[in-house]
Amino acid sequence: MVHTEGALSSRAGQWPAPVPAPGYTGHVPQTENGSAPDAPTALSWVEIDTHALLRNARALKARAGGGLFIAVVKSNAYGHGLELAARTLADTADWFGVNSLAEAERLRAAGIENPVIILGRVPPEDADRAAVARARVVVYDRELADALAAAAARQGVRLPVHLKVETGTNRQGLRGDDLVALARHCASLHALQVEGASMHFADVEDAAAEGFTRGQREAFLGEVGRLREADVRPSVLHAACSAALILYPETVLNAVRVGVALYGLWPSAETRREAARRAPELQLRPVLAWKTRVAQVKTVPAGETVGYGLTHRVERDARIAVLAVGYYDGYDRGLSSRGRVLVRGHAAPIVGRVCMNIAMADVTDVPGVAAGDEVVLLGRGGREAVTAEEIADMLDTINYEVVARINPELPRVPAVSEFGAPSGPVPATARSRA
Ligand SMILES: Cc1ncc(COP(=O)(O)O)c(C=O)c1O
Repeated sequence: MVHTEGALSSRAGQWPAPVPAPGYTGHVPQTENGSAPDAPTALSWVEIDTHALLRNARALKARAGGGLFIAVVKSNAYGHGLELAARTLADTADWFGVNSLAEAERLRAAGIENPVIILGRVPPEDADRAAVARARVVVYDRELADALAAAAARQGVRLPVHLKVETGTNRQGLRGDDLVALARHCASLHALQVEGASMHFADVEDAAAEGFTRGQREAFLGEVGRLREADVRPSVLHAACSAALILYPETVLNAVRVGVALYGLWPSAETRREAARRAPELQLRPVLAWKTRVAQVKTVPAGETVGYGLTHRVERDARIAVLAVGYYDGYDRGLSSRGRVLVRGHAAPIVGRVCMNIAMADVTDVPGVAAGDEVVLLGRGGREAVTAEEIADMLDTINYEVVARINPELPRVPAVSEFGAPSGPVPATARSRA
């Protein structure tokens, strides 16, 4: 299906403005993507500081010099909301990078006109849809190249494709004779244009792996040289992800694909430490806050347990806040009796097991907590903050996973920036509706 901007605007025009309940002065979650526009008030929601997103993008783009800036908005923009992130970045990003055709189609349906490159697998049977979406596709096998060429011919267009080069990450990609053979094959298909070549670094977030990173870059340039000898000349060369852009300017070549840093998250603690030396001017501001509300507050007598499995026993009469969020929403069960939330500007520990839709926090030491209070699961609250890194450490994972796993059904809503508007005009789409 072809989605046109006009069709979409009229649909967007039907969305009702949020109407606060009488006497309610808090935030009214309204969906930007995901749930239906007339859905009831969300039990938990994600606030996106669009100004911070834009600031991060501008700072990273400046670091890329004149390199083509591909903003990676795959995986629901790392949990930040695909449409909201793309609309915010549409005037700053040169291209958008997604993982799947479904994401590319969502961008087109949202009226996004920037070039879109699909970095993940496109099943050959979806080639026609990829052509309709005007997506650039990363290719590493003949079957897909043939399917794309046939689809492009049917649509009467020439489709740009990007060869994926294997340089030691050993995920998607080809090297040596296999790469040259595919490149020659693509070049022989007149409906395709070999526009780019790309690679992905395996360990660039680990500052100690500098030698490996440099070796991958050299291997890439060597493969591009072999392509040129075979008379295939991709013009867009993209290797650098966030950590590469931040730590190794020489990996920029003439294009970058930047994901996690856009969202104000450092690719790793090492990258952050090294950046303080190599890119001291670079500041990243976290973009996402995840919130819910207190559903009920109760006193639990000393000696009783809280939640499934009787895992947490209170040692004193405790005030327990029941929260309207659980692992279905992406609030990981691994946070059971480990996580922290912020209520009324104070930290409160998660106690007992995180359930599918409910979690409990001990608010005995937080004065005045009442049903309906806003609770910060991730983000700032008063002087305190719960960071994606803190949660990642508890779960033995990385900040990428913490944000990417927030249930895409939860509303993503633009929030007023803590830092104010960046200098220069903020695109209308990025303005806060709050
Ligand atoms: C192929 C590819 N390019 C670019 C990126 C962006 O990486 P980062 O989020 O570290 O900037 C990713 C992320 O996983 C990726 O898989």
